[in-house]
Amino acid sequence: MSDTLLDGGTLAEGCHPTTEINATVNGRKVQRRVPNHYRVIDFVREELKLTGNKEGCGAGECGTCSMFVDGKLIKSCLAPVQKINGCSVETIDDLDRDAGMSLLQQAFHKCGASQCGYCIPGMVMAATSTLRRNPGASRDEIKEGLGGNICRCTGYQKILDAVELARDIQSGAVPASALEEDAEAHSFIGQRTRRLDAPAKVTGAIKYAADMFMPNMLHMQVVRSPHPHARIVRIDAETARAIPGVECILTCDDVPGVDNFGVFIEDQPTLARGVVRYVGEAVVAVAAETLDIARAAVAAIHVEYEKLPSLFDPHTAMHDGAVQLHGFAQNNICKHTRIRKGDVDAALASADVIVEQTYDTQSVEHAYLEPEAGLAYVEADGCVTVQSPSQNITHHRHMLARILGRPINKVRMIMSTVGGGFGGKEDMIYQGMLALAAIKTRRPVRYVFTREESIKVSAKRHPFNIRYTMGLKRDGRIVATKMVMVADGGAYALSTPGVMNKSAILGPGPYDIANVWVDSIGVYTNNTPSGAFRAFGAFQSEFATECHLDLCAQRLGMDPVALRRINLMRDGATTHTRQQLDRVLAVECLEAAIKAAGWDAGVPYRQGQGKPQRNDFNYEGSRQSYLIGGQTQPLVPRASSKSDVHPVKISIN
Ligand code: FES
Ligand code: FES
Repeated sequence: MSDTLLDGGTLAEGCHPTTEINATVNGRKVQRRVPNHYRVIDFVREELKLTGNKEGCGAGECGTCSMFVDGKLIKSCLAPVQKINGCSVETIDDLDRDAGMSLLQQAFHKCGASQCGYCIPGMVMAATSTLRRNPGASRDEIKEGLGGNICRCTGYQKILDAVELARDIQSGAVPASALEEDAEAHSFIGQRTRRLDAPAKVTGAIKYAADMFMPNMLHMQVVRSPHPHARIVRIDAETARAIPGVECILTCDDVPGVDNFGVFIEDQPTLARGVVRYVGEAVVAVAAETLDIARAAVAAIHVEYEKLPSLFDPHTAMHDGAVQLHGFAQNNICKHTRIRKGDVDAALASADVIVEQTYDTQSVEHAYLEPEAGLAYVEADGCVTVQSPSQNITHHRHMLARILGRPINKVRMIMSTVGGGFGGKEDMIYQGMLALAAIKTRRPVRYVFTREESIKVSAKRHPFNIRYTMGLKRDGRIVATKMVMVADGGAYALSTPGVMNKSAILGPGPYDIANVWVDSIGVYTNNTPSGAFRAFGAFQSEFATECHLDLCAQRLGMDPVALRRINLMRDGATTHTRQQLDRVLAVECLEAAIKAAGWDAGVPYRQGQGKPQRNDFNYEGSRQSYLIGGQTQPLVPRASSKSDVHPVKISIN
């Protein structure tokens, strides 16, 4: 075995003073000269190309970068590179070079403790540290040991199970055969079935886009708008262009094809075209020999803006006379989905009780642990290829071909391993710039977002404002539902039209209602664009529906579960969009949930039913009594009457 891990090939050359580092990494001696500002993670990943440990946040919060320095677990994104001079470093890449997988890694594999896998190398390192320090660690001590590591998709249960399993095998309390695959019975359901990609994830061997390197590779950085709405008056990139190592500078003028793309509405330029519409919009892209040079070039580019009036509230944006953000979208309405079934006004007039309420949901960041990244290159046959964790690659490929003005067979998208997406990587936001830079320079180009950039630029869950009106009979039967939903779509459409459709279709819930009226309106504003996020809009509207049913139950003095039991769709029901359903298992699902929750033992109206109060509410250490719709007062049964009727005021129909 060589005593030098890698020779030559440093990223140190550039505009920064350098420092020499001598260290032992995974048992091998290494010597490198790197920029003074490097952190340990830069040294390990960029200089040594050991990419098992990931960078999730760059701020010491997520734990993906955890590695050992002289046996001590550190967050390598926080440690300056000088810290490892003369030290011994252990990374996930070589944790058990003889056996392929350490006992802990085998236990993670066995227990299914990896989904996207981005957090798992850090988890394995933290678990290794915990069991090295305390081989008999209790579950609580294991939790404590993993307390600095975050997972967004596996959940912690299986991870903790895996560490306990490794602990017990190590101590001899459990035989090593426990690591073997469970015998498969008649079904995979309910079984611990090993994931095929788990060994690559628990060892850090799997490659995410930011882990990819190519010979002669350039690095991309982007100038982004500091303004929510402004006209671009002038871009001065001459100083940046003169910096040695800057290979190309791109603006919208470099787009050869049709520079309007989008999954549903083609409203987005690859780089801002004359106007910026949100803080963080890409204006100029740079590809350079090193990341440092690309950053220096970005800092040297001067963009002159003329600020324009901005819109941050979707209701204001719909007013006549409001600033128009896109010429084609009257009143800034990006998408208006309507559902009309039956005669809602007549049904409301016949209702015993009408309950009206407004619900708001907030914008939510996906916070996947893998920030956006991509690598683009031109292959020998002239085909431009982009590797990125795109969740919608076929569509991205078509959009890319139009942007590049190329036939589809000269454009390839390869979906790299997705380190968490949750819908947030469905919309294309940076792949076009990468492909353009690769074509222009004839060199591979890589772009890796920082966490700050990811939060600033990528789509969020749509904030909704939902005005809800429901008419019911005294016995709990819903006779009419009216929902008017206004969602902030942000500066570009992205997945907004699809989200509006789904929120409308699923909004009234799995309830058999003869008269339904839904308006679902996505509106352009100067906020960060909104997009897909787990459930594609259904979450927001269903949240309002379920809160509203609780409120209706309160008004009727009825058990909220009983209200749902009365109204759930059954076999033969017609959906709100008039689809005939042969078989519906909603009631069975509800009954199973009631049983699992022990609901009947403690429904809020137990006292109202003449039964003793359930004594595990509101006592020290017990859960709070049932609260409705985020309100803070406990349920109080009330007589239902027409006096409960709120005036119905719906202005958009
Ligand atoms: S803690 Fe270092 S990357 Fe998150
Ligand atoms: S598996 Fe933990 S973040 Fe995805």
